[in-house]
Amino acid sequence: MQSTKQLIKAGFIIRYLSYSTQFIRKRCFSSTTIMSSRPSVYVTRRVPQIGVDILRKTCDISQWESDDPVPRDVLLRNVEGKDALYCLLTEKIDKELLDRAGSKLRAVATMSVGYDHIDVVECSRRNISVGFTPDVLTSATAELTVSLLLATARRLKEGISAVKDGSWGTWKPLWLCGQGLDGATVGIVGLGRIGTAVAKRLQPFGVDKILYNNVIETKSAKEVGAHFVSLDELLKNSDFVLCCCALTDENRGLFNEAAFSKMKKNAIFINTSRGGMVNQDDLFKALSTGQIAGAGLDVTTPEPLPTNHPLLTLDNCVILPHIASATYKSRNAMSELTARNISAALQGQEMPCQVKV
Ligand code: DGY
Repeated sequence: MQSTKQLIKAGFIIRYLSYSTQFIRKRCFSSTTIMSSRPSVYVTRRVPQIGVDILRKTCDISQWESDDPVPRDVLLRNVEGKDALYCLLTEKIDKELLDRAGSKLRAVATMSVGYDHIDVVECSRRNISVGFTPDVLTSATAELTVSLLLATARRLKEGISAVKDGSWGTWKPLWLCGQGLDGATVGIVGLGRIGTAVAKRLQPFGVDKILYNNVIETKSAKEVGAHFVSLDELLKNSDFVLCCCALTDENRGLFNEAAFSKMKKNAIFINTSRGGMVNQDDLFKALSTGQIAGAGLDVTTPEPLPTNHPLLTLDNCVILPHIASATYKSRNAMSELTARNISAALQGQEMPCQVKV
């Protein structure tokens, strides 16, 4: 009798404990009230999975699951209270965003080598580490720069159109002649990682001289036999003018009417840096009046360039949709490095590639 009473009592206790455990679990772990000690990271786009997988091991991830940019208001909402932000060059990281993120934010890592979209001074003031992805995209970007140069100089766009639209006709000695690299002078504005890699890839084409202009002379110039000259000298003497530098407030719009008017008539201008380096109205004028021979742009303002933009009417202007780093290898490595930058900062360490202010 006694043991039956004890059994009934024990049953009540077990049921009570199980109900209360369920109650606590529901309150604390429902989808709206996730209590987690793991840091939270917001990822602003669908990105190569490798980076997300790395972060998922130690962080709670929320993500804008689209190939199109996250609308600004959604970004501002979703960044609130996050410990880290994984962003792209399409997101402006400014005071407004940092205010909305709040004081927990410790890391902003962009999946790009360029970080002109981030207010790095403001981040530094708030002790927020900023990461970027140099080196891992250098080969891909240099390769595309050379491809664009060749496509523009050898008039591939016009050739492909002629094949398609039937204007090809018979072989003509004077048709679609362009500029060759053999014996040419190449001027590189910005002989950094990418500029140097471009110079190396151009040497086997038999270029005669490589000139460069930077804020200061660079060590890597010796490796590629490049000569430091003033910007004016570079513009005046180069058959190919390549813009490979990072965009800053100081050099914004550097390639304007004054610059194009100093270039040779046969000059080919290539930009794989940022659209902001170029005054596009001035470029249109230079290309349509024969001031320069051609231009190849992988970057424009804005992006995408409206389909009715005047530059798109020109045969001597080749425009690509910002694809310089677009190889699988490079984009995977960029995603991985972005994740490693975030992980390091969240552990209180210096990022593998941290912007120094
Ligand atoms: C960059 O990384 O800054 C390029 O523009 C895109 O890869």
